[in-house]
Amino acid sequence: MFMEEIGRMVNTVLTQFNLILIRKGPWDSSNAMSAEYNSFLAMRRHRDAWILKNVICKYVNETNEDKTITGATLQKYITTYRPTFDLFDQYIDEYHRRLADMSRVSPGDPNVAAHIPGYLVKADALKLYEMAYYCEGDILELGCYAGLSTSIMATALSASKSKNGRIIGVEISPARAEDTKRNLAKMNVAGRAEVICGDAQEVCDNLIAANAKFGFIFVDHSHSYEHTYEACKRIPALLVPGGYCMFHDFSHVANFVATDPEYGFHFFGVPHAVLDALTDEDFELLGIYGLAALYRRRS
Ligand SMILES: C[S@@+](CC[C@H](N)C(=O)[O-])C[C@H]1O[C@@H](n2cnc3c(N)ncnc32)[C@H](O)[C@@H]1O
Repeated sequence: MFMEEIGRMVNTVLTQFNLILIRKGPWDSSNAMSAEYNSFLAMRRHRDAWILKNVICKYVNETNEDKTITGATLQKYITTYRPTFDLFDQYIDEYHRRLADMSRVSPGDPNVAAHIPGYLVKADALKLYEMAYYCEGDILELGCYAGLSTSIMATALSASKSKNGRIIGVEISPARAEDTKRNLAKMNVAGRAEVICGDAQEVCDNLIAANAKFGFIFVDHSHSYEHTYEACKRIPALLVPGGYCMFHDFSHVANFVATDPEYGFHFFGVPHAVLDALTDEDFELLGIYGLAALYRRRS
């Protein structure tokens, strides 16, 4: 009885922190559901987060027998928005506040029902606006889809004091790249963004060859281990010292559980790739916001 009570108290305390997941042993997307995989998490203390060895088990237990992820399960692992910059009260401006007022797509789908289709939960959208608003320098985005995240960041750049920041958005699908351009134009922020249709890895290599530098990089493209790892490996050459980078779907259940048809084509490998590629020596993990992990490159 006493132990159960202690267990409940510990659980309550831990859920106040963000959860970050880390695996032990090499990544193998073909055996992601194996028992070995289920025990891959290690504990690690972080200023703003805990990595818990039982989180993967919780994920597995909370999915249905057919391993379908429910909206309710996903929702449990979405963390709240907290500011990174100590420069404003609650909201930066009216647009930032309006993002906080957005409703979700449906009770079972935590993504926001926004003016442009996309895959952001509310805390992601609020954090993107903040990071773009206070970003020093240009922004690089990998994976635009229809331009929801791109337009939020472009709007922040327009509203910010620095005034001359721009975004390069990279999107592999020609149709999606066109959607993004059209939606940016509708939002009157097309002048802030250049949309490049191409593979993230190739475009990053070209940007590195051109000595392009960014103050903020938002990675939200393929979500596979390999593609995320390759993107991460290019970040030191693209991000200014002290710059920020953010990885979407870092804490999404699809990184850890066999999933419904929406995600079933592959397991995400986002946290595994990020934790493999970014060294503690060079990058500091600042926290998890919504489903995204925010890092800062050390000077
Ligand atoms: C999750 S969506 C991006 C969502 C968007 N950031 C938003 O907030 O609405 C991922 C996008 O990345 C694109 N993508 C996938 N692999 C890519 C790659 N290797 N290079 C560039 N874009 C890629 C997909 O076509 C898709 O539109």
